[in-house]
Amino acid sequence: MDRKEFLTLFGAGAAALLYTSCVTGCQATDNPISAPANVDFTVDLSASGNAALTRDGGYLYNSGVIVARIAAGNFVAVSAACTHQGQNVQFTGNQFYCSAHGSSFSTTGARTAGPANSPLRKYNTTITGTSLRVFS
Ligand code: FES
Repeated sequence: MDRKEFLTLFGAGAAALLYTSCVTGCQATDNPISAPANVDFTVDLSASGNAALTRDGGYLYNSGVIVARIAAGNFVAVSAACTHQGQNVQFTGNQFYCSAHGSSFSTTGARTAGPANSPLRKYNTTITGTSLRVFS
């Protein structure tokens, strides 16, 4: 086998392998998991179980929602399930990121990178003393 034959054969094999792995491992369409509707809960920021929200970039999950602290007194809450295939997103300090296939979302829930096509649902937050209310 000469060099040209090898490259032709190898190239066709690699292309077939890439096509197969993408088709079977990474669906381009979003999953049917819907974001929680009727959300209304309160997080006690003084409770030790909620200590993640006492530092910038910290986050926690509650009722299908991820609540994150951007800065002191500035919180954001969006649906936790990635709109691609449903894995919980994480907060990285300035965006939400899904480690399953690399989708990312802004702090408003807007999709900034795929393969997810749809945004995360954003919820309202309001703080009174040490009580953080998250609601739709
Ligand atoms: S589940 Fe695929 S990018 Fe999130």
